[in-house]
Amino acid sequence: MISQRMQDAMNQQIQHETFSAYLYFSMAAYFHSKGLDGMAHWMKAQAQEEFGHALRFFNHINERGGRIELYALDQPDHEWNSPRDAFNAALKHEQFITGKINDLAKLADDENDRAAGIMLQWFIEEQVEEEDSVNKVLDLLNIAGEQGPGLLMADRELEQRVPGAILPPGETI
Ligand SMILES: [Fe+2]
Ligand SMILES: [Fe+2]
Repeated sequence: MISQRMQDAMNQQIQHETFSAYLYFSMAAYFHSKGLDGMAHWMKAQAQEEFGHALRFFNHINERGGRIELYALDQPDHEWNSPRDAFNAALKHEQFITGKINDLAKLADDENDRAAGIMLQWFIEEQVEEEDSVNKVLDLLNIAGEQGPGLLMADRELEQRVPGAILPPGETI
């Protein structure tokens, strides 16, 4: 059985992860509007991954006899000043999410909730990967530049991203 506090915190995290998907869809729409379909593709793949994150919390609450409650989502931004500005906003958002995951891990420690602790271990590692992958795109934009052939090259590079599995192997929706 999951505690009320952990259930509430994980329901909040479903909201954060779903908002992440919403934000990255919005960024994908922005990139399409600029003709940067590779960057849009990268953001759609990321949005799909975020939906998977929300599902992991959804399934965890459900498997432990808790009750899922879906909270309202804010409207995400829909305009950025440049590709770099959008990816900077993505990095800032992932840093915010890392803080939320750390708060959940702290709560699991405080409540001696081992099941949540194990489940959150994956997210702690995932957040390292999330921040790193956005940082790598920012590095790419620094190297290639944000105009003309450099920008086109960066866009083509990001088009190569292969969307990962939404849930771990063996787990189904
Ligand atoms: Fe996430
Ligand atoms: Fe990831």
